[in-house]
Amino acid sequence: MIRSVKGTHDILPDQTWRWRKIESSLHNFMQKYGYQELRTPAFEKTELFVRGVGEDTDIVSKEMYSWTDQGGENLTLKPELTAPVVRSFIQNNLGTQSPVNRLYYMDALFRRERPQKGRTRQFHQFGAEVFGSEHPEADAEIIAISYNFFKNIGLNKLNLKLNSIGSEECLNNYRNELRNYLKPFLNELTDTSKKRFKNNPLRILDTKIEQEIELLKDAPEIGEFLTNEDTIHFEEVKSILNALEIPFSIDPQMVRGLDYYTRTTYEITSTALGAQDALCGGGRYDKLVETLGGKPTPAVGFAAGIERLLLALESSVIESNNEVVQVNIIGLTDIVRSHCQVLAQELRNNGYSVSTDLLRRSLKPLMREANRNNAILTILIGEDELKNNTAQVKNMKTGEQTAIMKNKLIDFLAGLDF
Ligand code: HAM
Repeated sequence: MIRSVKGTHDILPDQTWRWRKIESSLHNFMQKYGYQELRTPAFEKTELFVRGVGEDTDIVSKEMYSWTDQGGENLTLKPELTAPVVRSFIQNNLGTQSPVNRLYYMDALFRRERPQKGRTRQFHQFGAEVFGSEHPEADAEIIAISYNFFKNIGLNKLNLKLNSIGSEECLNNYRNELRNYLKPFLNELTDTSKKRFKNNPLRILDTKIEQEIELLKDAPEIGEFLTNEDTIHFEEVKSILNALEIPFSIDPQMVRGLDYYTRTTYEITSTALGAQDALCGGGRYDKLVETLGGKPTPAVGFAAGIERLLLALESSVIESNNEVVQVNIIGLTDIVRSHCQVLAQELRNNGYSVSTDLLRRSLKPLMREANRNNAILTILIGEDELKNNTAQVKNMKTGEQTAIMKNKLIDFLAGLDF
């Protein structure tokens, strides 16, 4: 038997209704904020992520599913969506259509990480990106969207952690300081960190090596290097969040593991999750559009993991699946079978969800199945009903059974409480 690939999962019928609930809530929610959906291809040129996300990030240096295709092109299954959305924004001249562009998305992504609870190799994200505003209102809007969406869908126990990593000037000064701090320990660093020391010492902060984490405890913090403008920007973001009554804490060590961030960075975690507790992450990336060949355009966004959201919901909300088949039609003899199909079609055309038997079973197992599936009504048709143009309608809750003339059936159903 061929099994699915490690770190990938089927979403089975007893779960797909939960996904659809999230999906439809998201579309409604984003509409309220005036965001429009963007869909990008499943794979992109590898270079997009190398340049966009950064060569020394964990994602690009060890987690991408990349290959060379038959035409010799280097391609990669999307590991994240910000770079593809920026690529599409530039390629389709979306920036020329209006000064501010608000986009959202939902998609499958691929990272070759070590699978564990809340971490898979194919996972799904929804997220939003807003292009064109450098002002703190845009940062606050993005943070509020993610926070309020989680609240709205029934999640509590949320922690919003916020930081500012400053603009380019601040980042450059910080990189130098971090190098100065780490220089005496260079020999103690892993090969990966030595390479990062040269190219981008900020990425050393993503290390999972205990010894390096210890070493970094006394390293300078990026907040000390913010320019005046960075500080004012950050203060304004915080003050809008306060006004919106969105609680947050400052995490001065949070730089996030992707190279494109400038100024605001944030994550929302949930105590309902285990070690992989980040429900979403995001921030500002004012240089990325330019880096990828577009006109300088400030931007900010976030992305949230749908698997993690569903895990967190499981432990905090009692949900129910209201997507049941409402009506079961049971034919009691062979000669009524095609008649049952026609009746089912007619009821569907009138808006009901209807199921018929495909196994030619007898009444007893079919009634048992209707009960198990929480059907609301069962319609029984035998030879007598066929002759008299009637149907027996059984209310599965009360057990009450009524003979109804076929031409009155739709009216009768309309009068019931579905
Ligand atoms: P990220 O922090 O890499 O950011 O991912 C965002 C979220 O995706 C995480 O908080 C987590 O919920 C989920 N996630 C990531 N990796 C996995 C995985 N292997 N299994 C399950 N869930 C996962 C980004 O992707 C940025 N593009 C976010 C962004 C948008 N920044 C600005 N705009």
